[in-house]
Amino acid sequence: MSFKPLRKAVFPVGGLGTRFLPATKAMPKEMLPVVDRPLIQYAVEEAMEAGIEQMIFVTGRGKSAIEDHFDIAFELESTMTGRGKSLDILDATRLQPGQIAYVRQQEPLGLGHAVWCARHIVGDEPFAVLLADDFMLGTPGCLKQMVQAYNQVGGNLICAQEVDDDQTDKYGVITPGARDGALTEVRGLVEKPKAGTAPSNLAVIGRYVLQPEVMRVLETQEAGAGGEIQLTDAMARMIGDQPFHGVTFDGVRYDCGDKAGFLQANLAVAVEREDIGPAVRAFAREIGACS
Ligand code: G1P
Repeated sequence: MSFKPLRKAVFPVGGLGTRFLPATKAMPKEMLPVVDRPLIQYAVEEAMEAGIEQMIFVTGRGKSAIEDHFDIAFELESTMTGRGKSLDILDATRLQPGQIAYVRQQEPLGLGHAVWCARHIVGDEPFAVLLADDFMLGTPGCLKQMVQAYNQVGGNLICAQEVDDDQTDKYGVITPGARDGALTEVRGLVEKPKAGTAPSNLAVIGRYVLQPEVMRVLETQEAGAGGEIQLTDAMARMIGDQPFHGVTFDGVRYDCGDKAGFLQANLAVAVEREDIGPAVRAFAREIGACS
């Protein structure tokens, strides 16, 4: 069966990043670097690898560094060119005007609201959502794995990963149905269930492939957990009307919304790099952090 191709991706980047203060007082949290690329660039490259043609950023006040990052930097580029330096390092940051769109989320009303803010640009086609905080390392990338699954089953897909029982209150949690390889049928969804009430320990990780109908559902979605309009609640209302699956990612996820997770991601990427890997490994050994 062939399904409507996935061409657009929404990146909600309006969040305040309070967990990284004071670093994120004047800098968007999505611009925090893992080694030398900002988190948001990894997410954009993951989307490109998955065949996404248009990146839709849902931004807010104080996020203009993200717009600058994906623009042409005229002075920088002409100076580099004048000095005979290659601009290759800037590949994947110099997006063409048609490849990128920005919409403002004027108030921090939640992830569901952020996605809904992009409805006019998304239009009537399926779309992906990527949360840059969830740093996904794998080959192929997480969204590409999900697109491969989408091409088999269509409908809606969310990235799913088992978390420790004492962590379920931090996530959207899945009531799982039948499992077939990497695919798990989604029978129910609940956002940040109170400790001891989660239907499983299969959590929603920040990658989604959604049908446009979710925008209509979000239109009437009331505030849920944390007083915010939750994407999970809107998705839960679609179960039964459309196919819904969790995809187990073949790779490693780092929670870069958390300081320890962010440092782990940096270390994991750094030790694999040809240029700095040996020095970082040597240092990690010296301080007893790796063998
Ligand atoms: C969001 C979603 C949640 C999901 C999580 C994954 O929560 O609302 O369902 O499990 O991302 O990272 P947040 O981390 O923004 O609180």
